[in-house]
Amino acid sequence: MLTSTERRKVIRCSTGKFLVLLMIGGLAYLMLTQGNHVPSVSNGVANGTSNKEGESTLLVSKWKESQESIKKAFIQAWSGYKNYAMGHDELMPLSRRGTDGLGVLGATIVDALDTAIIMGVDEVVLEAGSWIEAHLSEKISQQGQVNLFETTTRVLGGLLSAYHLSGGEQERNLMQKGPKPVVYLRTAKALADRLLSTFTSSTTSIPFGDVVLRNSSEHLARDGPSGTLEVSTLQLEFNNLSAVLGNPKYSREAMKVMEHIKTLPKVEGLVPIYTSPHSGEFNGENIRLGSDGDSYYEYLLKVWLQQGARQDGNLTYLHNMYQEAMKGVRHLLVRKFIPNGWFSWGNCLLDLGGAFSPKVDHPVECFLKRKTKITFTSFLLKSKFLTWMSSICLYRYCKWGWQIFEAFEKHTKVDSGGYTCLNDVTVIPPRKRDKMETFFLGETLKYLYLLFAERSVIPLDKCLQHRSSSNSS
Ligand SMILES: *[C@@H]1O[C@H](CO)[C@@H](O)[C@H](O)[C@H]1NC(C)=O
Ligand SMILES: *[C@@H]1O[C@H](CO)[C@@H](O)[C@H](O)[C@H]1NC(C)=O
Ligand SMILES: *[C@@H]1O[C@H](CO)[C@@H](O)[C@H](O)[C@H]1NC(C)=O
Ligand SMILES: *[C@@H]1O[C@H](CO)[C@@H](O)[C@H](O)[C@H]1NC(C)=O
Repeated sequence: MLTSTERRKVIRCSTGKFLVLLMIGGLAYLMLTQGNHVPSVSNGVANGTSNKEGESTLLVSKWKESQESIKKAFIQAWSGYKNYAMGHDELMPLSRRGTDGLGVLGATIVDALDTAIIMGVDEVVLEAGSWIEAHLSEKISQQGQVNLFETTTRVLGGLLSAYHLSGGEQERNLMQKGPKPVVYLRTAKALADRLLSTFTSSTTSIPFGDVVLRNSSEHLARDGPSGTLEVSTLQLEFNNLSAVLGNPKYSREAMKVMEHIKTLPKVEGLVPIYTSPHSGEFNGENIRLGSDGDSYYEYLLKVWLQQGARQDGNLTYLHNMYQEAMKGVRHLLVRKFIPNGWFSWGNCLLDLGGAFSPKVDHPVECFLKRKTKITFTSFLLKSKFLTWMSSICLYRYCKWGWQIFEAFEKHTKVDSGGYTCLNDVTVIPPRKRDKMETFFLGETLKYLYLLFAERSVIPLDKCLQHRSSSNSS
């Protein structure tokens, strides 16, 4: 069973992201169970799989309307943040002030920037870009303890995305506003150099969970082992940084984690949610797919896709690990959810010999199963960078996406600016939680926006490849 340390850690991790996941999952659940109330835009997009010319034109114009609404929401969310919390990590929209739980690196600014670039909201690009140019490097060199995973996915990932989207790799500046792309890259490198000490100061291949940025001394994750998903989902950012800078050191450290995990004993490909940087072994026996568990499996595939082309099948082990894990998931974790036929899963404790505990973590993240109505929402919440590719694939989920968006508008919008998390989405009116997560701007609204992107701008080749890979196992 869980040790008390683990239980504390589970609770700590759960209270933050879990509630947000619960919020979105619950909203989706309510909407999907309650009804046939479908807005006119949705009727158009629901037919989105048609190929007929005339219909396409109609659909594209409906999508544009949807995109405009989502863009307005983004601007509204940003204005709340800018007016009451500029420079802080996150906005507390109800108390109209900032809060700093992510290392005081202006996390919302960096996380929101690539969304602003994609949506073409020039004034936000300018405001966010200028803030980064003026303040972020200094903050990085002075700040205290930050979490490796959160900082990599939100800040490092945000900077790299901004660099690429503003034309950095083509050595052009595609943006009329904001700093030159190389500013983002330089800042990303400065940050990664400090984060790297979590890897290099560990005697095993597993990095420490936290680091003090100003002196790069490592610290353990606040109470104990590192999250398995936390150490296995940093590779996209570190690999890309290495490739862009032509310096393999970032990629090398990050890939060591995967190579090491390959050698550890697993249960049908499934892994416990904690790993110790001291012993390099898995820590505890709790295996699950909910918050804290799922991304590990997802990134096996993503890292393989990212690196595969470049390394000629050398990383096949990742794909094998993924396939084995998916079989394990089907065998041990996924169960049909009576009465509505959705798929869900339970936790699995190794000491029970793989017994299934029928607890449902939250009904959101069924990304493993086709034909689950709630698939879309899980994609809203995955970590940054490249993930937006996946959301495009869920093209036929426009209708549900729009319903989710309408629920955000109805239940989470705060008039003075921003959107808030909810404590409990099974209660109407829901209780509000007074926090706007960085990923509401950095992911949720971005994926919603891209969901309604014109076909011509959707890289379907990559998208289909991605889908068929994930469905083939
Ligand atoms: C989809 O299109 C068909 C024919 O073009 C139409 O009969 C049907 O009502 C449409 N469905 C929706 C949900 O709009
Ligand atoms: C780095 O900073 C932390 C927190 O302020 C402190 O505990 C630690 O001793 C410092 N390490 C070094 C090598 O200065
Ligand atoms: C880094 O990632 C971006 C965004 O996915 C991609 O366009 C670019 O080609 C990558 N760069 C390298 C050198 O791998
Ligand atoms: C993959 O390539 C790297 C470097 O090119 C090499 O060090 C490693 O041994 C290779 N791994 C396998 C399994 O071939």
